[in-house]
Amino acid sequence: MQTADFVRRDSTALNGIMYERIGGYRVSDMQFVAAFDVDSRKVGLDLAKAVVTPSVAAVLHTDIEPTGVSVEPGPLLDGIGGNLVGVVEPHPASREATIDDVADRLTAVRADVLVCLLPTGATEAIQSYARAAVRAGVAFINATPEPVVHDPALAAAFAERGVPLLGDDLRSHLGATTLHTALIELLQSRGLAVVNTYQLNVGGNTDFLNLADPGRAVQKTRTKRSALQAAGIDASTVSAGPNGFVEYLGDEKVCMIRVEASSVLNSALTLDIRMQVEDSPNATGVLVNAVRIAKTAAEHGHAGAVHDACAFLFKNPRVGATESVGIRQFRAYVDSVARD
Ligand SMILES: NC(=O)c1ccc[n+]([C@@H]2O[C@H](COP(=O)([O-])OP(=O)(O)OC[C@H]3O[C@@H](n4cnc5c(N)ncnc54)[C@H](O)[C@@H]3O)[C@@H](O)[C@H]2O)c1
Repeated sequence: MQTADFVRRDSTALNGIMYERIGGYRVSDMQFVAAFDVDSRKVGLDLAKAVVTPSVAAVLHTDIEPTGVSVEPGPLLDGIGGNLVGVVEPHPASREATIDDVADRLTAVRADVLVCLLPTGATEAIQSYARAAVRAGVAFINATPEPVVHDPALAAAFAERGVPLLGDDLRSHLGATTLHTALIELLQSRGLAVVNTYQLNVGGNTDFLNLADPGRAVQKTRTKRSALQAAGIDASTVSAGPNGFVEYLGDEKVCMIRVEASSVLNSALTLDIRMQVEDSPNATGVLVNAVRIAKTAAEHGHAGAVHDACAFLFKNPRVGATESVGIRQFRAYVDSVARD
């Protein structure tokens, strides 16, 4: 009799981390050198404390070692809007801070990579941080759905400055978009036709509070449809988006996906899937890939959008791909920078 061997990975490997090294860098080689926020509860705190303030975020992971980096006030611009008004109190210094201050600080601390995790809908603020990165010659990761890779002038500015740009809209490491597009590819690989589909998402963190305002969520719906379109269906009218703020869920996100397909002799096949994740940590696996790719791309002189890595890491890259093509391109890029 045989026992099932479910654990095939090296026992020293960290769950959810795909690569021990990318371009020679381990996860533990990454260091925080600066952080910016506008929330008066976060500005002035060590970054390790700020990321679990307010406590709704990552409630299971509050024992983080201090980083030695204090959160500095960033320029407010349109960062706090819609449902966040009255919930997030902007720090007074954020009304005075400018994007030039951010660029100067990035230069002073010799940052390699700037990760933008501002609220969806804060287009002006997000694009301004991208300009600060260009000015400072720092690689930029746009984790938000607002257009940076998709803004031709900004994308050209990164290419001209000779620094890498990754975006738009980070996928969760294994989130609704990845599960949904993988299911579509599975059905299509067997010749089934997707007839109808939806993807509903609810959660209770500040991201979901912000996204509950339709005015702030416009780009999120667009980027989710874009990922489904790249998976090979006509997604122009598919309901796929943030579908509500359920406060008691906190950082838990619940996603419901239905795919109705037509198979042999027009027989019907329907999938109903419910996935539940802790939302914030679910960005970690993909972010530690993206940061090491950005640093390595800079070292290899890759300027502007890093297309070969972006289809796997983002919902709305400039050049989209199916799941299998995206991961193949990504693995080839990681291998190519490891060889050079
Ligand atoms: N699993 C994930 O966490 C995940 C996955 C994919 C994409 N995203 C995207 O990443 C973005 C951030 O998500 P989140 O869950 O971290 O949101 P969040 O609401 O927890 O954090 C946003 C932070 O930005 C700060 N902020 C607002 N305006 C600012 C400004 N002008 N300067 C500096 N800081 C400012 C807010 O105070 C807040 O601390 C969103 O666009 C989201 O859609 C998140």
